[in-house]
Amino acid sequence: MTDTLTNLILLGPPGAGKGTQARMLVERFGLLQLSTGDLLREAVANGTAAGRTAKGIMEQGGLVPDDVVLQVLKDRLSSGNLGSGVIFDGFPRTLGQAEALDAVLAEMGMKLDRAIALEVDDAAMVDRIAGRYTCAHCGEGYHDTSKQPATVGKCDVCGGTDFKRRADDNAETVRARLETYHAETAPLTEFYARRGLLSSIDAMQPIETVAGRLAEILERESA
Ligand code: AP5
Repeated sequence: MTDTLTNLILLGPPGAGKGTQARMLVERFGLLQLSTGDLLREAVANGTAAGRTAKGIMEQGGLVPDDVVLQVLKDRLSSGNLGSGVIFDGFPRTLGQAEALDAVLAEMGMKLDRAIALEVDDAAMVDRIAGRYTCAHCGEGYHDTSKQPATVGKCDVCGGTDFKRRADDNAETVRARLETYHAETAPLTEFYARRGLLSSIDAMQPIETVAGRLAEILERESA
């Protein structure tokens, strides 16, 4: 990597592997993962005004209003070290958010380098999400069948023994989230393709294979 910041977006439906891949990129390239889903869940847990607005919408699988999401995103961007660049995980999700992101990055003297679409079959996503759980201590992600800790019940990363599942990871909400994705977010691939910023990866491949493809793209970007 060079000294230049590399900022990228991970696009893809619920369960595509955005969070899984973002965490691997953080480790490998020192990027900052910025997940609006995580920021909103934190706001819900802390009972902030943003969290109170977001809670019911997230439970229904809809989209939290752009102004609320943008505020939590800006607060996070202005509060810390951006590492070697930022991975926007689950943001933007609407055209309005995409345009706002350009403005926010320009204000900070930065730009978007690449949007990467993780392409998957919807039918497989309900299983991926229903089987998902994370370490309650460090947030490392696991799956009942495709990615279990090396020692059952013990997190590979921090050794924690408590795990949790998300409130919106039930079949009904997952279907609503998939519908929302196709109606509101999928058109963004065309938006970024027109600007010559889009790369696509077959994210039905194993996690390590997808990670390898992402690393290739990132190394090309930062060469
Ligand atoms: P968010 O938290 O962003 O959830 P999401 O987009 O639905 O995505 P997920 O976190 O479910 O999936 P992922 O792609 O990260 O997959 P993961 O890596 O975990 O958003 C939640 C809610 O917040 C939204 O519904 C909305 O209400 C609100 N929100 C968030 N951002 C917003 C915004 N910008 N605007 C408005 N509202 C917003 O992988 C899933 C599982 O699959 C894991 O168990 C993993 O181990 C496994 N897995 C991953 N990759 C593979 C692979 N290649 N092969 C096999 N298994 C795999």
